[in-house]
Amino acid sequence: MRSLRLFWALIPLLSTAAARLPTVTLKDAVYVGTTTHVASATATVDKFLGIPYATTPERFRAARPRPPGSLFVNATEQPPACIQQSSSESSPESEDCLFLNVFAPHLGCGKPKAEKAVMLWFYGGALSFGSITDVDGSSFAANQDIILVACNYRLGVFGFPGNVSGLSPDELNPGFRDQKMAMRWIQENISRFGGDPTKVTIFGESAGAVSADSHLISELSDHPPFRAAILQSGGLHTFNRVALGVGVSVTGMGTGNKAGEAPFLTLAKYLNCSEENAVPCLQSKPMALVKSAVLTLNLLFSPVDDGGKTSVADTDSARRAGRTARVPVLVGSTFMEGNIFSDKTLQQKTLEGWADVIYPNNPTAAAAVVNAYSVGSSWQAQTPDDAVRLLHSDFHFACTTTYDSNIMATIDIPTWRYLFNASLPSGLASHGSEISFVFGDPQSTPANQELSAKIQGAWADFAKDPSSGPGWTKYSPTTPSLGDLGGEGDRASITVIDPAVVDSRCSVFWDAYDPSRPR
Ligand SMILES: *[C@@H]1O[C@H](CO)[C@@H](O)[C@H](O)[C@H]1NC(C)=O
Ligand SMILES: *[C@@H]1O[C@H](CO)[C@@H](O)[C@H](O)[C@H]1NC(C)=O
Ligand SMILES: *[C@@H]1O[C@H](CO)[C@@H](O)[C@H](O)[C@H]1NC(C)=O
Ligand SMILES: *[C@@H]1O[C@H](CO)[C@@H](O)[C@H](O)[C@H]1NC(C)=O
Ligand SMILES: *[C@@H]1O[C@H](CO)[C@@H](O)[C@H](O)[C@H]1NC(C)=O
Repeated sequence: MRSLRLFWALIPLLSTAAARLPTVTLKDAVYVGTTTHVASATATVDKFLGIPYATTPERFRAARPRPPGSLFVNATEQPPACIQQSSSESSPESEDCLFLNVFAPHLGCGKPKAEKAVMLWFYGGALSFGSITDVDGSSFAANQDIILVACNYRLGVFGFPGNVSGLSPDELNPGFRDQKMAMRWIQENISRFGGDPTKVTIFGESAGAVSADSHLISELSDHPPFRAAILQSGGLHTFNRVALGVGVSVTGMGTGNKAGEAPFLTLAKYLNCSEENAVPCLQSKPMALVKSAVLTLNLLFSPVDDGGKTSVADTDSARRAGRTARVPVLVGSTFMEGNIFSDKTLQQKTLEGWADVIYPNNPTAAAAVVNAYSVGSSWQAQTPDDAVRLLHSDFHFACTTTYDSNIMATIDIPTWRYLFNASLPSGLASHGSEISFVFGDPQSTPANQELSAKIQGAWADFAKDPSSGPGWTKYSPTTPSLGDLGGEGDRASITVIDPAVVDSRCSVFWDAYDPSRPR
């Protein structure tokens, strides 16, 4: 295994020059990391890349903890990504991918005080692609005195095979279970890096927010392995109610999914596996064959309801019934999420056509959507294309965060909302454009550098003291407030505005979101 090569060479090194390298002793190995600096700060950062948090997983099955050991591991190289549901192979991929990266303020000599706040990042990518190599937590560690951890988790058919016979009902959604293993790893190990396991915040963007949300509704003990969550442009609701329906027409992902058949079985049949034998048969196929068949068939794999162990289909009812970890939440979206959708896909249909996709059997509700997004109804909807783009921006992302935060606030979850609206050279702030600001690398104007520092500071303040919030007024439907990050009030700062800016059109979607209401 790549990162478990024995580095006998390290032993003599450890006693001499390399003694200055950061070293952490865990039960399974001694990890030797490296140090780094960021331009904006003087603090030194210890960087441990590619720490395994579980054993090499068996395909489609839940991961297992690692046995004790005493290896030396050179934790200085990026680990492979999990298998991507994408044909471009930009970086190494492997089924042996359950690694995490740790970025921590430099440890002095002796035993560290385990007192620092910890943030665990889940990447986005439709639960189908993404990897921890995409983010660098050095800026968080150096500028905020925070320990930033990012974990890989399995994707697509490897992470979300579905509920098919042959898979244990206790092991469904292995991708979410991977994340839970990483959370457990933090509970048991982060003190060695100077982190306090009682001060963990989970966060993620898009499918990463879907992931964090799945832990909110499944970690119900009095002591969940986190004490706060940040949901950037996504929630479990988004996946269950939106991505699998209208989302397929817009993203083009999952056009091969068949009504009434689990995509796992569609895949099995295509690879000449019998239905009864689908799991062992697909386990025996070469990874590259499984990967290319998924791409050929264009299947979308998504979490299944496992009775709340890791996921539920009806997030709203679960939350309304109080089935949620009672921790503070920061939730928000970007000003024009819909810019990630290509013109070509959006132009497949007119505004009326899209309204019909959202409300196939409800002309009254569809007419309300058309009315809310008609050309000229707002300055963002001056042309037919822009009107359709705004509709998708709201339907998929902005209004789902409104919907979720309303439910959270109603059940007394301390909730803060934001809107990311930096002025970007590429145009209006689109889906995912806030990530580089959160991680402190906006590579842009001085105003955006300043904004980035403030956004990262707000995220860190929230992680350090969740009940005090990120620095602006707590949200409730009766005290509507929203942090406008880089918006019209001050392009380099955060101003508090009325969330009507986001919410005014959303009510036309409530019926489409709410599974208990008729379509
Ligand atoms: C650890 O890995 C890095 C990056 O590949 C390499 O430069 C370094 O020499 C390795 N250290 C040892 C002791 O093998
Ligand atoms: C660290 O995490 C691993 C993997 O979950 C676990 O087996 C181990 O007991 C933990 N604790 C230490 C101190 O290594
Ligand atoms: C499945 O069976 C068909 C018909 O025998 C064959 O043409 C095809 O190559 C097989 N596919 C795989 C992946 O084995
Ligand atoms: C999975 O599917 C089986 C067979 O259809 C069903 O009995 C079981 O309840 C499902 N499991 C969950 C957790 O939904
Ligand atoms: C968001 O940014 C756009 C474009 O820069 C601007 O026109 C608009 O007023 C901003 N809205 C808010 C609420 O900040």
